[in-house]
Amino acid sequence: MDLKTYLKEKKALVEDFVTGYFKEPIAPEILHESMKYSILAGGKRIRPVLCLAAYETCGGDGEAIVPQAAAIELIHTYSLIHDDLPAMDDDDLRRGKPTNHVVYGEAMAILAGDGLLTEAFRMFSKNDKIAPEILLRALRELSSAAGLYGMVAGQAMDIIAEGKAHDKELLEFIHRNKTAALLKASVRIGGVLYNAGEAAISALTGYGEAIGLAFQIVDDILDVTGTTEELGKPRGSDEDKNKMTYPALYGVEHSRALAKEQIDRALQSVEFFGPKALWFNEIAKYLLKRSN
Ligand code: IPE
Ligand code: IPE
Ligand code: MG
Ligand code: MG
Ligand code: MG
Repeated sequence: MDLKTYLKEKKALVEDFVTGYFKEPIAPEILHESMKYSILAGGKRIRPVLCLAAYETCGGDGEAIVPQAAAIELIHTYSLIHDDLPAMDDDDLRRGKPTNHVVYGEAMAILAGDGLLTEAFRMFSKNDKIAPEILLRALRELSSAAGLYGMVAGQAMDIIAEGKAHDKELLEFIHRNKTAALLKASVRIGGVLYNAGEAAISALTGYGEAIGLAFQIVDDILDVTGTTEELGKPRGSDEDKNKMTYPALYGVEHSRALAKEQIDRALQSVEFFGPKALWFNEIAKYLLKRSN
């Protein structure tokens, strides 16, 4: 199987589950519609795919943890809706479509985000195939990464840093928190749900951390070098808002080298798994080359 087929298969598992999950009507209808608009708009689904890949690399069958993987995507999607709001990045295109607030208004977009975030934890908390204490451990992992010890802190710092003098440490803090934390957690959660040993979890952590940082460096690079059409979101958004980004501090070429350094680190970390690291290796290399 090639990587394209692998990603497509895993993505379909997640999307079928989410589509089924949101079939039942929710009142008010407009809130339901607004959540579905964003969660079913496509996207790479890389976080749930990484979670499934980690569970399988440890030895399990990913189908057993689809609700948990999908819950991570709900959190990611909420973060995108809020990230695009006029009070934050003020963007009007996401996943190739008008952003949630452009279609449903700011109030409903905020609430759709709140709804997805909260529902994610309800979705995550139920799985009869996983021991409750393991599920709880994984849930705590997810809360830390999504909240004050991860994404929310990073997003806050991203806003605070707009227009500020270049600061390499601050830049790394922003990227490690706003983006790498949830990616790292996606990988670790796969291992935690499998109840993997300490050495495996440590290899997953190293991989998740490194691809997580590389992911946001590449996102910054694409904001400069990509096209709005290919990205499905507005090119040049970071420069418009004077964001603290890798290309702004290091230039595009040096940023590419820094992303590659992280990817090499990720590959090294999963050498622990031997040949079973195949998909992790493929995904890491793809994340460096991606064009959206
Ligand atoms: C975009 O995430 C926001 C970042 C954290 C960089 P993705 O690049 O994963 O966006 P989708 O989910 O594929 O749309
Ligand atoms: C956002 O980073 C990270 C999130 C937690 C949503 P960006 O603001 O660079 O993401 P894009 O480029 O809008 O997708
Ligand atoms: Mg942002
Ligand atoms: Mg943004
Ligand atoms: Mg960006």
